[in-house]
Amino acid sequence: MRLFIALDLPVTARDALEELQRKLPGGRPVDWENLHLTLSFLGDQPEDTLEALHDNMTTLRNPAISLTLSNPSLFGGKLGQAVALDADGGPDLVQLHDKTRTRVHGTGMATERRRFRPHVTLARLSGRADPGPLLQTITGARLGPYLCQSVTLYASILSESGVIYDPLASYPLTLI
Ligand code: 2AM
Repeated sequence: MRLFIALDLPVTARDALEELQRKLPGGRPVDWENLHLTLSFLGDQPEDTLEALHDNMTTLRNPAISLTLSNPSLFGGKLGQAVALDADGGPDLVQLHDKTRTRVHGTGMATERRRFRPHVTLARLSGRADPGPLLQTITGARLGPYLCQSVTLYASILSESGVIYDPLASYPLTLI
């Protein structure tokens, strides 16, 4: 079971991201319901670890995140390029990432070792596509701030019609 934990974006943020996606002259836009900010990608995990992970996540306490999205840039590498916006949620987001990671580690699961570079992916590109024109059309884009009030644990399911992100459980963030 391929798992990841993401910060949920409010409807207003997703609508604004969709507007931006419409301007892109290429690439495969991420579906509206799949727009999120990944906090932790867990990869394939045995199903019997789910309960422990859920129990740990229910202890999460963190303020809601005020999130600004800007600076369209290229993400990814070997696994494919993607056009994304950098996400700035200040110290609250950094703390949320740390707390999430601690809860994942508490189950014995490992997390990715690469540095956390918070972003929201707008569109994925095929191997040799030139990202230049896509980045150019949305250069200078800046969205938000948006108040993000929950985190969701997802299973990522590969189907013939593409990837499906199945929400398994959500955890609220409070303002204090
Ligand atoms: P991305 O938006 O940068 O592609 C589900 O695949 C989510 O987990 C995506 O949002 C993806 O981020 C993120 N993710 C992080 N590391 C990943 C990896 N090694 N393979 C697939 N997805 C990964």
